Amino acid sequence: MDVLRRTLLGLARDARFKDALTTLPPTRAVVARFVPGESTREAVDVVAGLVAGGRLVSLDVLGEDTTDEALAERAVAAYVDLLEQLAARGLSTSAEVSVKLSAIGQALPDGERIARDHARRICRAARNAGTTVTLDMEDHTTTDSTLRVLRELRKDFPETGAVLQAYLRRTEADCRALAVEGSRVRLCKGAYDEPERVAFQGRLEVDRSYVRCLRVLMEGDGYPMVATHDPRLVAIAEALVRRTARPADSYEFQMLYGIRPDEQHRLTGEGHRVRVYVPYGQEWYGYLMRRLAERPANLGFFLRALASK
Ligand code: FDA
Repeated sequence: MDVLRRTLLGLARDARFKDALTTLPPTRAVVARFVPGESTREAVDVVAGLVAGGRLVSLDVLGEDTTDEALAERAVAAYVDLLEQLAARGLSTSAEVSVKLSAIGQALPDGERIARDHARRICRAARNAGTTVTLDMEDHTTTDSTLRVLRELRKDFPETGAVLQAYLRRTEADCRALAVEGSRVRLCKGAYDEPERVAFQGRLEVDRSYVRCLRVLMEGDGYPMVATHDPRLVAIAEALVRRTARPADSYEFQMLYGIRPDEQHRLTGEGHRVRVYVPYGQEWYGYLMRRLAERPANLGFFLRALASK
């Protein structure tokens, strides 16, 4: 992994750097590119625009690594409120929610139970609204716990989706276990700084793992969610869709808000389902740092905004 990426991912968890960065005025401009609002109302307006443009949405109420029970409760309430607002605006058949278990208590003492109970409340609210929940995947120390919570939730809410990260060496096996009927799996490359013991380090190795995992998911009986902006991987996914003769309603492409909107339109125009991941809220720091780490051009954009002030 290159030094710049590792440095930025390290800073993603540095409280002092966070305080310094978030007070800089140009930061707002960069944040707005990836995080379209702080309030639920703003986020729901963005959803309405994306849905009008033929896209599906998954909303993420920003927050992670919560070590305060009241904050975890507040995050659950924010999701329930969001789901009610989506239903009231008639958007819940096109918009679901993505949840980080660390935002709803996974890191607290007895955190797995707390996060599971909280996630269950969000799943119930989603079902009442007529939509679904996908559990985001965080760093590798949480993978087993998150997959255990997923298995528990799926007993009552089989529509609950999982995220698997192609950079983890274990993921091909996890894909095999989850490529079953009714199972929704979002495959991404992975966004955290992981040790070599558990994760492929080179870009090529990660891409190759992505293709192996994608093949397992596309050839399986579940619902693959192809989460990448990588043109080569998108092309391989399109080829696999053709080869496996998957109907258009049995898989989807997913991209992050603000990244490659033209490609989102192209895929929609070709008859593929495309879902945009829309994060919103005030806790955008960790999310922004992972986006800057992914792509030097994003960092350049940020530095230019800084220099122009
Ligand atoms: P990568 O970053 O390697 O980019 C590959 C290529 O894509 C670039 O070389 C370029 O050609 C193109 N590209 C990328 N960004 C571009 C841009 N801004 N403009 C133009 N071209 C661009 N991670 C995680 O660990 N847990 C999770 O739960 C999730 N959830 C999630 C949901 C969704 C819907 C998505 C799309 C992604 C995630 N991720 C995630 C993040 C994921 O792991 C990964 O870090 C990013 O998607 C970046 O990886 P790419 O596959 O886009 O390739």
